Amino acid sequence: MARLFLALWPPGPAREALGALARRVAAETGGRAVPAANLHLTLAFLGEVDPVRESRIPAAVEGIDAPAFELTLERLGAFPKTGVAWAGCASVPSALASLQAQIDARLREAGFDLERRAFAPHLTLARRITQPPGRRDIDAVSWRVEAFSLVESAREKGGYRERAAWRLRQ
Ligand code: 2AM
Repeated sequence: MARLFLALWPPGPAREALGALARRVAAETGGRAVPAANLHLTLAFLGEVDPVRESRIPAAVEGIDAPAFELTLERLGAFPKTGVAWAGCASVPSALASLQAQIDARLREAGFDLERRAFAPHLTLARRITQPPGRRDIDAVSWRVEAFSLVESAREKGGYRERAAWRLRQ
């Protein structure tokens, strides 16, 4: 079984900027920075998926028709209960909301039992924080989102592995 999720996977320059931000935020909050190589924004969390169900994922998401878009992360926030500090959007781009809604709907149609919580887009910067950061603006990090990815959480290595990616309409 593989632990899988769908996510936006920032390209190199944005990833580096977010990695530096993660280290600063971890120092500020007493948490552990997410390594730059692991940074992502989750669109749908699938959990443990057996190979038969995994084989249904490409067909489920291939037909998604969503445009590429610019994503800007410019807010710092936290989920104190789970000890997470994150970067998020001042306002969620409609293209991101639409992409996530399509992914969610397609995966449900394909039989995946997804969480019913409303989508709260965030990119986790630090975990196990002891002091939540004040919610505030940060130096914006932007990138053009041209694809979304199927990612495996490889717990034994503490990292993630991109298994597949689907391009958005240009
Ligand atoms: P997080 O960053 O807020 O922890 C891989 O675990 C990714 O899936 C993480 O980005 C995590 O979000 C997200 N995720 C969403 N729902 C989850 C759940 N129920 N359990 C674990 N991770 C979840």
